[in-house]
Amino acid sequence: MKKRLLGILLTVMMVISLIGCSSDKDTPTSTDTDATATKAAATTAPVATDAKDITVGVSMPTKSLERWNRDGAYLKAQFEALGYKVELTYSDDDSDQQVNDLQNLIAEGVNLLVVAAINGEALSTVLTDAKDQNIPVISYDRLIMNTDAISYYVSFDNYTVGKLQGQYIIDTLDLANAGDKKYNMECTAGDPADNNAGFFFNGAMDTLKTYIDNGTIVIPSGQKEFEKVATDKWKTENALNRMQNVLASYYADGTQLDIALCSNDSTALGVAQAIESDYAGTNQPLVTGQDGDVANLKNLLDGKQSMTVYKAVANEAVVTVALAKEILAGNKPDASLLDKFTCTAAYDTSSYDNGTGVIPSYLLVPDVVTKDNYKEILVDTGYYTVGDDGYLQAAQ
Ligand code: GAL
Repeated sequence: MKKRLLGILLTVMMVISLIGCSSDKDTPTSTDTDATATKAAATTAPVATDAKDITVGVSMPTKSLERWNRDGAYLKAQFEALGYKVELTYSDDDSDQQVNDLQNLIAEGVNLLVVAAINGEALSTVLTDAKDQNIPVISYDRLIMNTDAISYYVSFDNYTVGKLQGQYIIDTLDLANAGDKKYNMECTAGDPADNNAGFFFNGAMDTLKTYIDNGTIVIPSGQKEFEKVATDKWKTENALNRMQNVLASYYADGTQLDIALCSNDSTALGVAQAIESDYAGTNQPLVTGQDGDVANLKNLLDGKQSMTVYKAVANEAVVTVALAKEILAGNKPDASLLDKFTCTAAYDTSSYDNGTGVIPSYLLVPDVVTKDNYKEILVDTGYYTVGDDGYLQAAQ
């Protein structure tokens, strides 16, 4: 058992050293100081000087969505590579359990928390405890709302994710030259408890607005408000059920669905399943997605999904770890943190207000992946390998 675990860890470490961006612009220790950074406020004071005395608590939402397994593994391996200890928890998409898991991590005396919230609105009380104990909190991928306990946010540019989906639809169908042609679209958005979900949806809808307004894109169900098209917990099953209802109510007369705008891959999987029996071959609708989950990459190769917005979560971990290291060293990172890693990211101090003020954010850049470029973006970079069956599998 131990040997197997060691094997898995070594594979993850190997993969990490081979792919993604790196923080090799700097030699990591927990005690170094950065001449360009200013000293932190009292709430983010360092407590330990030696890497081996530092424990980082990493709280992830669920194992049932593929990407979070990758996030957890990358964060753990990269923190451990600095000599830190890591407590990694998954809370089964249950917000109460996440509060509980965080309480335990705080009670154990972790030195820093990295948290991807299940419900962005539900963590302010527990994170007040973290703040009271001077435990800095990095909001990971999803912004945690209504608490001043978080010092930074690391994510991808979430609005851009939606914009890329919208632009893909415009380009692929050449909507600018559509003339009188009309396309039927249905939308599937994410979990209302996830602060990202609105950014994805708005990014796509703002991009498509001209064509919805001029009637090139028609939404037969009329459901175009976020609340109407949201998917509780991002669940495939919920997206499948809703799309089946929409098809039965508005498409039963043979109306052709042309576009299924889906905010991410777990929802795209359900939608693809709902349309599978009616749409195949020449009338396959465009289906968008996000994450590059293995099942969706299979659908991409099989023509059941058109694109996915890929976010290299290995790089999200690189940025998070570089940020944590600075915070733990007592510094107050700013735009100069970008000099410490090779990832392409922006330092943003205006877009993400969590209700207590704008949270300084490091935002990475997502990529569009299609059947035409998946080899270059996913395989040549080492993120995925091609299995014996010709489909992609995650490299870790
Ligand atoms: C979002 C995340 C996406 C997707 C989704 C479902 O917050 O940014 O990448 O994974 O959650 O888990």
